[in-house]
Amino acid sequence: MPETNKMIVFPEGRLLHGGDYNPDQWLKYPEILKEDLEWMKQAQVNCVTLGVFSWVKLEPFDGEYEFSWLHEIIDRLYKNGIYTILATPTGALPMWLSSENEEVRMMDDRGTRRLPGSRHNFCPSSPKMRQKMRQIDSRLSEEFGKHPGVIAWHISNEYGGRDGDCHCPYCEAAFRTWLQNRYGSLENLNESWWTGFWSHTYTDWEQIHSPSSIGENGLHGLKLDWRRFCSDQLLDFCKEEIRSVRAHSELPVLTNLMVFFKPLDYFKWAKELDMVSLDNYPSWHSQQDDIREGQIASAVFHLTRSLKKAPFLLMESTPSLVNWKQDNMVKRPGMHGLSSLQAVAYGADSVQYFQWRKSRGGVEKYHGAVIDHRNGNQTRTFREVAHLGGRLAKISKKVIGTLQKPKAALIFDWENWWAVEDVQAVSNHIDYLDTVLRYFRPFWNRGIDVDIINMDGDLIGYSLVVAPMNYMYRGNYMEHVRDFVKKGGTYVTTYWSGEVDGSDLCFLKSHPLSDVLGIEPEEIDAPVGQWRNMVSYQGKEYQVEGLTAILHTTTAKALAVYEKDFYKGSPAVTENHFGEGDAYFIASENEDAFHEEFFDNLFGKLHLESGFGANLPAGVTVTVRKKTDEKMQPDNIQAAVWFLQNFRAEEVQVTIEKSYIDIETGEQVTGTIVLEPYMCRILEG
Ligand code: GAL
Repeated sequence: MPETNKMIVFPEGRLLHGGDYNPDQWLKYPEILKEDLEWMKQAQVNCVTLGVFSWVKLEPFDGEYEFSWLHEIIDRLYKNGIYTILATPTGALPMWLSSENEEVRMMDDRGTRRLPGSRHNFCPSSPKMRQKMRQIDSRLSEEFGKHPGVIAWHISNEYGGRDGDCHCPYCEAAFRTWLQNRYGSLENLNESWWTGFWSHTYTDWEQIHSPSSIGENGLHGLKLDWRRFCSDQLLDFCKEEIRSVRAHSELPVLTNLMVFFKPLDYFKWAKELDMVSLDNYPSWHSQQDDIREGQIASAVFHLTRSLKKAPFLLMESTPSLVNWKQDNMVKRPGMHGLSSLQAVAYGADSVQYFQWRKSRGGVEKYHGAVIDHRNGNQTRTFREVAHLGGRLAKISKKVIGTLQKPKAALIFDWENWWAVEDVQAVSNHIDYLDTVLRYFRPFWNRGIDVDIINMDGDLIGYSLVVAPMNYMYRGNYMEHVRDFVKKGGTYVTTYWSGEVDGSDLCFLKSHPLSDVLGIEPEEIDAPVGQWRNMVSYQGKEYQVEGLTAILHTTTAKALAVYEKDFYKGSPAVTENHFGEGDAYFIASENEDAFHEEFFDNLFGKLHLESGFGANLPAGVTVTVRKKTDEKMQPDNIQAAVWFLQNFRAEEVQVTIEKSYIDIETGEQVTGTIVLEPYMCRILEG
């Protein structure tokens, strides 16, 4: 099946601005609904998401549908220039469904069935759940699928939520079928899972159960396949929702992803969606400064864009604060503009919020919203949102549909994530995501864009590919890397790479890319306390902070060596020329200062830079959106649009060698300029 890619239609060619709107909670308050409309127009809102958790209002009793209220709301919004992204309501179940049908509720790994209530907790294999989902989704599609005010489908909500996997008999049966399709025979499965270990060889498919804290929990192959299955099975549910809304509607389909969300392999999910959309809730102001948080949010947007290598929608964000972390600080003045434009900078064609109006009761009554319980539009939050609405309107035509086209890629792979964090080895506090983020930072610090791709991604075309902690080599990845380097690419990888194959079985004999890397890793250690080593690189010393591989070179040369212990003087960083390209191996988990130095040298050698023409001070970064496809873009988009972002809470000076025009003020910008705290300047040129 070809990937689906239907583009959303942007009302009046404007970036979307708005968010989750739950008027169904306020139907008894007509004056509130009236105010909402007025204030939405003031805030330049042009798009809302309706019906995310409205199942009981749409189907108050089994089989009795009630759509008139929704018709009225969608019509009224449309008449006022506000468009609707319409949700299917499966994110939360009505009591009549969950109370009367035990099978729709998830079962945990100890066989305990959940009680009715909460959300994001339905069983994706339950026939009853699927039947009721098909009915409500196709009825919605019939009613609203051709409404001129509806521009897309928002399928369910944050699939996978926070409630774990379902281990019920339906899911276990589906898992066995999934395994039969994958392995064909029990013999293959036993070999792949290495079940001879502890005498756990399966002799009948029915003996296979999902991993459990009170059952089988020691077979890495089983656990990995269970994760693959759970992601696939929920995706299968999502695809059935998509088919149901497509019964009467051609509109693009989206579902709000959470991006660095471990349970679901979003590279697979993205293929089934017309556009990627995401929810993002960074912890602003939770640390000494906001630089780290800005980098993480940026990595999130990089990955979101990379899932389809296309613009995406920011579907949820908070206009002020959240209420579900330990400490929930309100965004300081300026942060709302910066954090929203940061999304736009990396490819978002929308800024949407959770939510428009604070609910009056329930667990989210103190979660930030554009409209508070009191003071209407007379709040700082409202003013910042309205101000941003104006800015988005101003830049829309120069930005929609444009993108980055990075020359570098960072490998981030869900299957690798699952495998590497499940392993019991030298160190049992491995954090794959944190490792990837460490390797992302040098790019961010210099404003160099990077695609974040998985092991299936095409490497040819990039000049640099960085693969940190690439523990698993699955599919044809090794051949792709070999080919990439042979043809002139530069490849950087690290300790704890090339250990296992796609079944989580250890490679035998030698490292699978030993020819490309020109090394042979021998041992891996996790020194603690006084045993921690130092690496000496280009005359400077750097602290090793964790995993430490000990290796010998074959054809590579050492660029750095360890400074002490029994492996003193042995290679810590190597470089190998292979074919037309080069491959680097960083053998230990080093402090950030090492990465800064190493990548500074490498970027210099490869002439990789932002192209903006400025030395960026700490906490400031830049990115550029431009035309990537001649056919796709409106004719008026000619110039590149740069987003210069200051994540510091203080003013900072930047000296720009080139000359740009500020899109919002028309001012010419060159030489030394001052960026105010949390400022994002949008420059053309
Ligand atoms: C999201 C969810 C929303 C709302 C929001 C609060 O994860 O989709 O419905 O709960 O969090 O931050």
